[in-house]
Amino acid sequence: MMAEKKSLEVSEAEIAVHWQEEAYFYPPAQFIAQANMADEGIYKRFSLENVPECFKEYADLLDWYQYWHTMLDTSDAPCWKWFIGGKINASYNCVDRHLAKYKNKAAIIYVPEPEDEPHMALTYQELYVRVNELAALLRDFAGLKAGDRVTLHMPMVPELPITMLACARIGVIHSEVYGGFSGRACGERIADSGSRVLITIDGYYRSGKLLDHKENTDLALKVAKEEGQIVDKVLVWRRYPGKYVSGTPMVEGRDYFTDDVLKDYVGEKVDPVPMPAEDPLFLMYTSGTTGKPKGCQHSTGGYLAYVAGTSKYVQDIHPEDVYWCMADIGWITGHSYIVYGPLALAATSVMYEGVPTYPDAGRAWRIAERLNVNIFHTAPTTIRMLRKAGPDEPRKYNYHFKHMTTVGEPIEPQVWKWYHEIVGKGEAVIVDTWWQTENGGFLCSTLPALNPMKPGSTGPAVPGIHPIIYDEDGNEIKAGAGKAGNICIRNPWPGAFQTIWGDRERYVSQYYEKYCKNKDSKDWRDWPYFTSDAAVQAEDGYYRILGRVDDVINVAGHRLGTKELESACLHVPEVAEASVVPLADELRGRVPDIYVSLKPGHRAGREIEDAVTKSIEMIIGKIARPKHVYIVPDMPKTRSGKIMRRVLAAISNGRDVGDVTTLANADVVEEIRKLVQGE
Ligand code: WTA
Repeated sequence: MMAEKKSLEVSEAEIAVHWQEEAYFYPPAQFIAQANMADEGIYKRFSLENVPECFKEYADLLDWYQYWHTMLDTSDAPCWKWFIGGKINASYNCVDRHLAKYKNKAAIIYVPEPEDEPHMALTYQELYVRVNELAALLRDFAGLKAGDRVTLHMPMVPELPITMLACARIGVIHSEVYGGFSGRACGERIADSGSRVLITIDGYYRSGKLLDHKENTDLALKVAKEEGQIVDKVLVWRRYPGKYVSGTPMVEGRDYFTDDVLKDYVGEKVDPVPMPAEDPLFLMYTSGTTGKPKGCQHSTGGYLAYVAGTSKYVQDIHPEDVYWCMADIGWITGHSYIVYGPLALAATSVMYEGVPTYPDAGRAWRIAERLNVNIFHTAPTTIRMLRKAGPDEPRKYNYHFKHMTTVGEPIEPQVWKWYHEIVGKGEAVIVDTWWQTENGGFLCSTLPALNPMKPGSTGPAVPGIHPIIYDEDGNEIKAGAGKAGNICIRNPWPGAFQTIWGDRERYVSQYYEKYCKNKDSKDWRDWPYFTSDAAVQAEDGYYRILGRVDDVINVAGHRLGTKELESACLHVPEVAEASVVPLADELRGRVPDIYVSLKPGHRAGREIEDAVTKSIEMIIGKIARPKHVYIVPDMPKTRSGKIMRRVLAAISNGRDVGDVTTLANADVVEEIRKLVQGE
């Protein structure tokens, strides 16, 4: 059993990139001269001995109604609580407090996908007005109050951050579901979070098409209802206020156009509610090892302090900067590093509605030039896509980045170098930031003025984060050992999620059980946080992240649980068993490859393959679309009946399947190999 488990665990890391250690690149003097953090002393201040007190430095970047009396409460280990006794409001910190100095400065610049539609700049004053009016509507029209959850199913429109900040203003916990997710996926999250209000939009642009988004609502509500959650109000923003672009009828007494209802709230002001620091700010659902997505519960005070601190020192955001993070707010990166972090620092945050290469490979660089963006943040999958679509395109545009970020997947050194030389014109520093939905903010990255860059390595841990790499038996793997292991974090930090919404048991078992030294302990030193990533640490202390060790596939930077994909396959009536493995892909990093076997009496055929793909698109969303669907006579299985995904992954990726003689049905392996790879 142990050997089988181990070989399964290596498989993800095995197909991860195993490149050589690269030479350093040094930050330009000009960057260092203006950097927010050029003091080596920060690492000492945030050393392990100074945890948790060091994080006062981040909390002090914020305005508190009331200071905390206890920095870190460990009495409910491992559910850590930060800044106990503190009172704070996230909306106030991201909006109101900037008005005195920056009311006429752009908070958000919105770039619609159609190039002939004008950009929209929302000043801090305008953001303040819009957030207040909506907060009044949410309170008085939707009847929402502090502690209630509300589900948002919204794409990249300015109304999304406005809605988040309006929720935060009155202590309502927002749960934003990525706009590209299906109605069904949205419905499951509505039910799990217990939301009785859904906020959505009629449509939005993607690759030149105005998509009907409202069409997801009815299914979402139906699925939620089946799971016992009734939604009584749906607030529908309109992409063009006053003009409904969806073909789906509004439901009388349930669906309301937000822009219409807002007319009753013009000029209304709502006092921000001083929230206990440890009250939840939002939920963000993510995939894990079981079929059910889990709601990561993020706090108000700790989270905001952590994203403000890391935005300031890792992203090097100053109020004068024009900062563009080309992620989607539907993911954690967008929450932390488009909305909360940058706005807490009074930055100008750019939001782009659409596809980076629409209508052509120069689009991103035209936006950068026109808005004079100087900090740029994106993911390797997008960088690969931009590089393929227009390798020389950046040269044609007159923009200059001082700083660039990569996040979400390992970046190949040759892609990193293109990013550096061509996109960054050799002038910009790059930070390769490693972290997860659960973490709130960065775990590893260079501090851009203090550490040299090393392509393909995320760098050392950020201040206040103290990783350790363990082998399966809990022995530490030291820097320079040349061996990979499970990277864990030794200490709590304020950005970390508080629990899984409604499932504390799973929170403990998934993240803290594996390397816990004493289950009865209230001392955080006994509870290392298990990240589920494999990593190797070089002699210089830099980490390379090799990939997930659990059943999660990182597709183009999006986390998908293999169990979720497999259960979607089983919705096809003919399918008996399904198994999903990651296939290495030049552009998207990994894509799912699907193997299904059929119930007796059914024959393989194109219709079933298509039905499997359709089912996945319907149940999860288009991002999860498989590369191939293979109908196989049987799954390779151990004698105990366990499907050997490792074998299927090897076949998909053209690797040696290794020793399969111990399988219950070794012959089927060769049959599958022929089916996939040909004779
Ligand atoms: C992977 C995204 C290598 C990792 C913020 C992690 C990375 C998962 C990096 C979390 C990086 C993230 N280098 N791998 N710089 N950043 N990952 O929750 O496997 O969507 O566990 O959070 O992405 O994905 P999530």
